[in-house]
Amino acid sequence: MTKPFTLLQISDCHLLADPKGRYRGQSPDECLQRLSPAMAAFKPDGLVLTGDVAEDGSSEAYERAIDALIGLAPKRAVIPGNHDDPDHMFDIFDAAGFAQRQVVTWGGWAVALLDSVQPNDPAGALSPTEYQLLEDAQTLALPTLVFLHHPPMAVGSPWIDRYALNAPEPFIEAVGLGQVQAVGFGHVHQVFSEHRGGVQYLSAPATSVNSQPDRDSFTPDPTGPKARWYRLWRNGRWASGVISAG
Ligand SMILES: [Fe+2]
Repeated sequence: MTKPFTLLQISDCHLLADPKGRYRGQSPDECLQRLSPAMAAFKPDGLVLTGDVAEDGSSEAYERAIDALIGLAPKRAVIPGNHDDPDHMFDIFDAAGFAQRQVVTWGGWAVALLDSVQPNDPAGALSPTEYQLLEDAQTLALPTLVFLHHPPMAVGSPWIDRYALNAPEPFIEAVGLGQVQAVGFGHVHQVFSEHRGGVQYLSAPATSVNSQPDRDSFTPDPTGPKARWYRLWRNGRWASGVISAG
């Protein structure tokens, strides 16, 4: 069997303008640095940043994220999270060669990059533009991965479930119709996996601070920063798991 395409999903870095700034009591820069050797060891072919790259939407945070990650993989993409400034980050990541607001074809797979952010609201929503991207991906007739920041279902943690994707039913129906194999999201700062309607829904935990699962309020997880990996074979076979800095 031919070599698979290795994709890293990197989420919720929450970097701040000040490189010494703290997020939930820890340095998000140091967390990302701790995880970097484990991510590099995967020798990824592509990486997708799934939002909340910055806690504060600052240029400084985006530029440090790019500096830290640009050498990790030859193909790169990014989608925004609710803490990001979507238009501002678009310009900075566009200049650095990150794919955005499109469907990319990597390793014989379609990878749809959906923007689920709505202004001044931590919960998510998908506009007709995003549903059109999903349709565009389906017309490629390739095994497909869909990324968005917000979870389309509750993960069992009320502190974040109140800010999930609004009105997720049409989305779940749309991804269940075609060749979508998996939907990857961030936002929840914990590992989550659920199979529904023939599609696997998977979170990437945060590279910053995670919470223990199934908690009413954010409860720091002492097991450290994490990311998710995917291996994608051209015949549609795939596998996924979580990388931890330990
Ligand atoms: Fe978020």
